[in-house]
Amino acid sequence: MSKSFTRRGFMLGAGAASAAILTSRRGFSLEPAGVTIDASKEIGLIRPELHGQFAEHLGSCVYGGLWVGKDSPVPNIDGYRKQAVEYLKGLVPVLRWPGGCFADDYHWRDGVGPAARRPKTVNAHWGNNIEDNSFGTNEFIGLCRLIGAEPYLSGNVGSGTPEELRDWMEYCNYPKGSSLSDQRAANGAPEPFNVKYWGVGNENWGCGGQMNGDEYATLYRRFSNYARAFGETRPFLVACGPSGNNKDWTQKFWGNMGTRRAVQGFAMHFYSRGANFSTKFTPAEMQRQFSSFPEIEKAIIEQRALLDTYDSQKQVGLLLDEWGVWDRMVPEEQTQYGRLFQQITMRSAVAAALGLNVIHRQAGKLAMTNIAQIVNVLYSMLLADGAQCVRTTTYYVYEMTKAHLSQTSIAVAVEKPEPVGLSVSASRKGGELTLTLVNPKPDAGMAVNCSLAGVSARSATARILHHEDLNAANTFATPGRIAPRDHQIAVEGARLVTDLPPLSVVTAAVRLA
Ligand code: AHR
Repeated sequence: MSKSFTRRGFMLGAGAASAAILTSRRGFSLEPAGVTIDASKEIGLIRPELHGQFAEHLGSCVYGGLWVGKDSPVPNIDGYRKQAVEYLKGLVPVLRWPGGCFADDYHWRDGVGPAARRPKTVNAHWGNNIEDNSFGTNEFIGLCRLIGAEPYLSGNVGSGTPEELRDWMEYCNYPKGSSLSDQRAANGAPEPFNVKYWGVGNENWGCGGQMNGDEYATLYRRFSNYARAFGETRPFLVACGPSGNNKDWTQKFWGNMGTRRAVQGFAMHFYSRGANFSTKFTPAEMQRQFSSFPEIEKAIIEQRALLDTYDSQKQVGLLLDEWGVWDRMVPEEQTQYGRLFQQITMRSAVAAALGLNVIHRQAGKLAMTNIAQIVNVLYSMLLADGAQCVRTTTYYVYEMTKAHLSQTSIAVAVEKPEPVGLSVSASRKGGELTLTLVNPKPDAGMAVNCSLAGVSARSATARILHHEDLNAANTFATPGRIAPRDHQIAVEGARLVTDLPPLSVVTAAVRLA
């Protein structure tokens, strides 16, 4: 962006926010919007894992995306796309791999040892293309180390065995002396990987085996029985949870788990489907997609409450380990860039921020979330092709909201809540308060007046991500079209005052008095 949008003229101010509707210089209405932020009401820690990511062997996410190979003309670090590593470093607290649906057809032994000797298999879920297994466990862990991410491995339950999963855990985590740990050392990694997060299957109600919740519980008990701590790291085992808010799956699974439960996490998936190609959305189609976010919030609250009926001590964490927008795919793009490639627009950025606000507000109920996916698939942070690597609007939303991590989420109340209206999340650590404000409306600006309860502010700075065209995107042809920039915010003691143009995401860093 952008033509400048400032509040000067309205700044007088905030008192004027009580006027019915102010009019901006740019011709859209500017509606007054009141918010209260109550620092005394703590919701829970925003664990770094709540900003997790997901990489699957699907389309060009791994091959051609994150991994270009050591002999590639594309600048790389031991085969990893250099630009992607630089962009992602420090932004990905946890990375889930290798699927997705791919995980339940993946046999980890195919992906270890000298690359030239690895078998060529068929990626049956995602187009029957040849998988040369050149990116396997050691390469994945290497990527995690380069970008500072905690690895999260998804085990194969659908077509695998309990033995295969326990051997993978031994390969990764046993210090030394067993054949599998020595094999890891011979493959270049003498130190154990100490992988903590292990998925026991993926979508086992669908691509992971087409099971019922009770059938899966029977298998889960067998698999988890052998999924032990093979080293210092106690595994955090994640059971497959429901599609969306499907309570039947949750009840059948937990109803058949018995009392001896080796479950640390229960992972639901929730996609926000789009009715159109990503750069062709109408405002009405966008609003329909945005209306999925209150549904996600409801699903988190209801699934957590249901989980509590089986887990009164709250020992099991709820995960949302796949979420994001899933639009109609453009056939030519699928051919050119691989399966599930979609452009990421200003609409997608607003959706990402609506999702992250839900996640922050429900931080007390969540152990981890993973947006799907990291490069060239669905909600990509980065789009990569040949030597090009573009930061999408979703990337910027994660970058702008990163300051919430490791802070405590605090209560926010919007004066006049609407299903697709002003969205807010806030968090605090000591004298720092972080705020994310999202205006999802395509045609109305908002004059926001935030009252701080229990604290007052000394100073504040803000950044904005905004483009007036909901279908605008950072593409290979226009890589720098949308990027964050500084934004005006005024501090008046216990009040913060700022404006949100239509379709905008604002983050504020507030220093408390
Ligand atoms: O993220 C793409 C696919 O969506 C995953 O492989 C699967 O788990 C889900 O259905």
